Amino acid sequence: MSVGQRGRPDKKTIGWRGWYVLGFLSVYLYMLTERYQTPKETAFSKWKFCVCRSLRVRKCTFYERRKGTFSHKGIVRLFMEILKVENLCKVYGRGENQVKALDHVSFSVQKGEFVAIIGPSGSGKSTLLHILGGVDRPTGGKVFVDGSDVYARGDEQLAIFRRRQVGLIYQFYNLIPVLDVVENITLPVLMDGRKVNEERLRELLETLKLTGREHHLPNQLSGGQQQRVSIGRALMNAPAIVLADEPTGNLDSKNSKEIVDLLELSNRKYRQTLIVITHDENIALQADRILAIEDGRIIRDEVMRK
Ligand SMILES: Nc1ncnc2c1ncn2[C@@H]1O[C@H](COP(=O)(O)OP(=O)(O)O)[C@@H](O)[C@H]1O
Ligand SMILES: [Mg+2]
Repeated sequence: MSVGQRGRPDKKTIGWRGWYVLGFLSVYLYMLTERYQTPKETAFSKWKFCVCRSLRVRKCTFYERRKGTFSHKGIVRLFMEILKVENLCKVYGRGENQVKALDHVSFSVQKGEFVAIIGPSGSGKSTLLHILGGVDRPTGGKVFVDGSDVYARGDEQLAIFRRRQVGLIYQFYNLIPVLDVVENITLPVLMDGRKVNEERLRELLETLKLTGREHHLPNQLSGGQQQRVSIGRALMNAPAIVLADEPTGNLDSKNSKEIVDLLELSNRKYRQTLIVITHDENIALQADRILAIEDGRIIRDEVMRK
């Protein structure tokens, strides 16, 4: 620091803008502390609500409307929450033939969670999975994946969402019969006009025990191998969520176990968020959480392990 003309050190302040930012940050940080509680209707809590609204974060969980406060936990949840479903409804048909497949379903899933969905046939499980994956539009309600509203998108953007953010695994594999193993796995990347990450491809082929089968067509593979290819296709893009609809429904117990182990491995190795519909008790027991659905409603939400 140099000495000024009058013998005083030159002032090196942060300026009015700096004080303004500092003041704002300290008030903001103060508001985030969990210890800070205000009665819901005070002028201050209303002011906070207005700040939130202007910052377009009212929907986010870090402002807890119920308590009228901000919280650290809420902030953590905001960054951890990969999927949020609000009042999802789906009605098929009209008049007498109307079927309410989903009836105000709400839940959220944290990043890296492995969720099993169980329920009787016709309870709305596949409908829910298709809506989460951007395959079918809901009649009402909202789906947020990685913080953005899936169905606020137009059809073209929705197709991009499906390719990049979601990995789908079906009971009957849904592989393209004229494409070989590598082509099937890399299909979502190629359709997106992007370059294949050769390292990830090699790693996936190895993990899924498909090395040596790279150029086989689906009809030259067993059921278990075909399902492993479809897992590879689902994981290739490192999607936000992998959705599987009864992935072991068509396999014997040995192959089912292999598929479940691979899904679990992807969950541990890549911290992949998984939502799996299943009748298979072994899958359900390996999940972190079980959602039970009946008549289009969630009737149970059980956390098995954190
Ligand atoms: N495309 C459709 N058109 C009409 N009704 C449908 C359609 N898809 C599903 N449903 C009906 O919605 C309900 C839920 O079906 P679904 O989601 O497939 O159940 P789950 O996968 O649990 O067996 C069922 O009553 C089914 O008949
Ligand atoms: Mg189904």
